[in-house]
Amino acid sequence: MTATTSGKPATTGWTEGWGLFWTLTLALAAMALAFLVAIGWDTEGYRMVIRATARTSLALFLAAFAASAAFKLWPGRFTRWLRRNRRQIGLGFAMSHFIHALAIIALWRTDPGMFWLLSNPRSIAIGGAAYVVIALLAATSFDRMATLLGPKLWSRLHWWGAWIVALSFIFTNGKRIPVSGWYVLPVALVVAIIILRVSAGRKQREAATPA
Ligand code: HEM
Repeated sequence: MTATTSGKPATTGWTEGWGLFWTLTLALAAMALAFLVAIGWDTEGYRMVIRATARTSLALFLAAFAASAAFKLWPGRFTRWLRRNRRQIGLGFAMSHFIHALAIIALWRTDPGMFWLLSNPRSIAIGGAAYVVIALLAATSFDRMATLLGPKLWSRLHWWGAWIVALSFIFTNGKRIPVSGWYVLPVALVVAIIILRVSAGRKQREAATPA
């Protein structure tokens, strides 16, 4: 693992900075391809890719969403790495959700009957709005765009955007709980990370308050 003296991620190495982003991208593409080759370039294959990328998206999003809070609460080697690379992990989440979208389009084109059985205009409108937020977060994760926005606007966009995505995951998993109790697990994970962020914020405020 390598880091620059400024604390920013180095661009080399497959577990650091942009190297990490490309590692994640390759791993996601390989996973999707493996499912399609094993199951088929058909309804079942596309549905598997949709479900799998929904889960990798959640894992990557939660890692980025928790990074700063985890470091504040438990400063250490791993949490420092997580915080240093949170931008690339966040972009890995956007990439995973991009593949989610590609598989959704493939399902819609090959099996519109199944697509409309699993979706409806309302869920497409809500999911589409979440995609706009994810695209905005991804586009402003590069230095040039961040500079253009200015620190205040950038912080507001990323704060609100992250919360909208967190709520989207609670909603999309929560509505599936009647189908399977296992969907309680992802909802509980998102709630746990929200509690973690609130605790870290409280700890920071307490530390800043003069005794
Ligand atoms: C227009 C936008 C979207 C459409 C049309 C869409 C479509 C779908 C479909 C059809 C499935 C079910 C696949 C199956 O059961 O075979 C699915 C699963 C899922 N989607 Fe999306 N989605 C969209 C956006 C989103 C967004 C924005 C999120 C979260 C931020 C999300 C999270 C999920 C989750 C958590 C699952 C369940 C995966 C599982 O079974 O574990 N989706 N989506």
